[in-house]
Amino acid sequence: LAGSASVRQQITVPAGTYTLSTLARTSGSVSSGQITVTDSSGAVRTLNIPASSGFTRREAAGLQLAAGTATVTIRAGSGSGNLAVDQLGLVKTSGGTTPGTQRYEAETAPATCQGTIDSNHVGFSGSGFCNGTNAAGAYVQFTANAAAAGTATIGVRFANGGTTARSANLIVNGTTLANVSFEPTGAWTTWVTKTLTVSLNAGSNTIRLDPTIADGLPNVDCLDVSTPAS
Ligand code: GCU
Ligand code: CA
Repeated sequence: LAGSASVRQQITVPAGTYTLSTLARTSGSVSSGQITVTDSSGAVRTLNIPASSGFTRREAAGLQLAAGTATVTIRAGSGSGNLAVDQLGLVKTSGGTTPGTQRYEAETAPATCQGTIDSNHVGFSGSGFCNGTNAAGAYVQFTANAAAAGTATIGVRFANGGTTARSANLIVNGTTLANVSFEPTGAWTTWVTKTLTVSLNAGSNTIRLDPTIADGLPNVDCLDVSTPAS
């Protein structure tokens, strides 16, 4: 590219994190250049290219691009001489999954409830809740999807109208991670959410609450699974 000239190309990209990289050199009095990437939302990211007489790698990592048409523009700074660019690449380095929370109801398959699905204590979400059989081992199990492997926050919505806490093993994909105590909430109609942190695999995961006391589980309404962006 001669001084002050520019060239551009449009490509269609999925959402995600990208690294823009190139080899570049300048000659004559062209003392700089610039590569910009404009994504479909109009956001502009800039890679500045300083003067160098030999080809030098220039890179900008961690560019978050929206899905759709991205425009890559190379501009030479003013002057008489050239900007030369070689091996230009825009490489996706990770997912582009959006953070979000997914609710899984205890009464909706593939969730399973070792007990009955009841609806006699108001305040639940969906059409009911899992009233686990009052026995150790009478579990509730949810199946949760994650777009990418990583840490997730799970919220167990429950009510315990009894006078003592009920404890249960938290078992994710067959591995027991913790023993969790579900304190009395004051009434069977008082629902609260207990937040826990787990590691999930990409794809399908089983999340089981397996009571370790003879009283069994509290009543369990649903599970909210929050996964971060990747
Ligand atoms: C009561 C309540 C149930 C609850 C049970 C228990 O029977 O109505 O919803 O599951 O107590 O102690 O587990
Ligand atoms: Ca019960």
